Amino acid sequence: MPEHDVLIIGAGLAGQRAALAAAQAGASVAIMSKVHPVRSHSVAAAGGINAAISLDDDWRSHAFDTVKGSDFLGDQDAIEVMCSEAPGEVMHLEHMGVTFHRNEKGEMDLRAFGGASMKRTAYVADITGQALLHVLYEQLMKHHEQVERYEEWFTTSLLIDDAGRCVGVIARDVRSGRMESFLAKNVILACGGAGQAYKPTTNGLIVTGDGIALAYRAGAPLMDMEMVQYHPTCLVESGILITEGARGEGAHLLNANGERFMEKSAPNKMELASRDVVSRAEQIEINEGRGVGPNKAGIYLDVTVVPRKRTLEALREIVNLGRDFAGVDITREPIMIRPGQHYIMGGVKTDIDGRTPIDGLYAAGEVACVSVHGGNRLGANSLLDTLIFGRRAGEHAAARSASMPMPALNTVSRVQADEAGIDAIVRREKGGRRVSEIKDELGETMNRYAAVFRDEQGLQSARETVARLKEEAGSAWIDDRGTVFNQDVLGALELSYMLDCAEAIVLGAIERKESRGAQFRTDYAERDDENWLKHINITATADGPKVSYSPVNITQWEPEERKY
Ligand code: FUM
Repeated sequence: MPEHDVLIIGAGLAGQRAALAAAQAGASVAIMSKVHPVRSHSVAAAGGINAAISLDDDWRSHAFDTVKGSDFLGDQDAIEVMCSEAPGEVMHLEHMGVTFHRNEKGEMDLRAFGGASMKRTAYVADITGQALLHVLYEQLMKHHEQVERYEEWFTTSLLIDDAGRCVGVIARDVRSGRMESFLAKNVILACGGAGQAYKPTTNGLIVTGDGIALAYRAGAPLMDMEMVQYHPTCLVESGILITEGARGEGAHLLNANGERFMEKSAPNKMELASRDVVSRAEQIEINEGRGVGPNKAGIYLDVTVVPRKRTLEALREIVNLGRDFAGVDITREPIMIRPGQHYIMGGVKTDIDGRTPIDGLYAAGEVACVSVHGGNRLGANSLLDTLIFGRRAGEHAAARSASMPMPALNTVSRVQADEAGIDAIVRREKGGRRVSEIKDELGETMNRYAAVFRDEQGLQSARETVARLKEEAGSAWIDDRGTVFNQDVLGALELSYMLDCAEAIVLGAIERKESRGAQFRTDYAERDDENWLKHINITATADGPKVSYSPVNITQWEPEERKY
């Protein structure tokens, strides 16, 4: 059975950064991913990464913007760590070979992003995640003697020993269908969010809440799951992301009357208010009949006000996306967009070193809730989060490994149990619902009731639907009965992960009876610090999900009214 000091699940930016840090600290490391690492969802991150590297900037200003962006739900100690370590991390990336955009003076260029009080977003055109991911993967190859790569292995369970410690995982080799157990002194979950629980979403098909659900099933609390971010600029039908970088470069949002409606809700920051504020403003325009296009379901994003040369240079990916997926040349005409699911601020509760309450289990990146994003994440803080907390988790896990023996566990019966579960899915008779139908209904339900605006009735309806879908998923059938690259059976497992995540999102949203950040309850329209300035934790128990609370860590910024 393979044994490693540090086993990382997920090979996007958080996972790769954790692997490098742990390897450099001398640990034996393995990184496991259900897809090839450079196909991880981090590749889709577009507009950039925040760091106070400008001479007239200060990490405290970045930290305050992040606290304010979070609607004061972010833990300020964690935000201080992230923002103070950001400049060093970005410089480190550049030294490793990331080709950040430079200005005429040859300095690293910075662009404006939402909710930021100054330009502090370093970028590689609008393919920043891709640029970072490829450079980190090169580094992993360089460290190939210390870092084992299990590419295209799908994790089915965490191994928890009798003392309640996480000591490894069980996984299926996607190429052959073979199941195996892996022992590890530490497991770091770095396998992203759960965007596919929504339809549409900006998230890739692989973003199915695997790590969140695995940790939840193992007894780890999920924190602030109700905080789901809708990005203001997604293509209307497909949900494809049109980067915030466009607004950072000066693009306008226009309603059917040609008005820059952001003036009403964010007269100072306009299109560069925080994402929750912009998405709500757009949805109001649409709901009140001032939308554009078929069914007045969209808003115009007008990039033509940005000089064409600059668009072609700094926003070239969305030029391609506009042309290929909407038939629009964004340098010459406005493109129709609307708010779409993009990110989950909640996740597995961790501390600033990535530790979950389960000994030996860490989480970093979107799967985790540190919490640096609170009720609303600022654009370009997610790449930063993945790298800072990926590195910190890797370092901490490596240090912990040094002082402990390799765990021992007989895993035969556990592997057999997971194998039997998969066999049962493969053998299901046709007749019930298909996995894909259930997934569609889940996505549409979440997008209807747990979206930009929410209320008790809608959320209760979502709760009932999710419960029914969980039942139906228990007998949902698939076509592929083979073992080689059986994505169908993995889809059934992913559906069960997404349903767990959806259950927690809806439960959290029902529980939080106030409006804060991305959670806007039309029936509780005000922020209520007196009763709800606290995290909501959801833990799986034999009697179903249990809700508890934990305090928000406030270091230097007392909550105040948020205005942009
Ligand atoms: O719009 C964007 O480029 C997305 C960035 C982010 O979510 O951080």
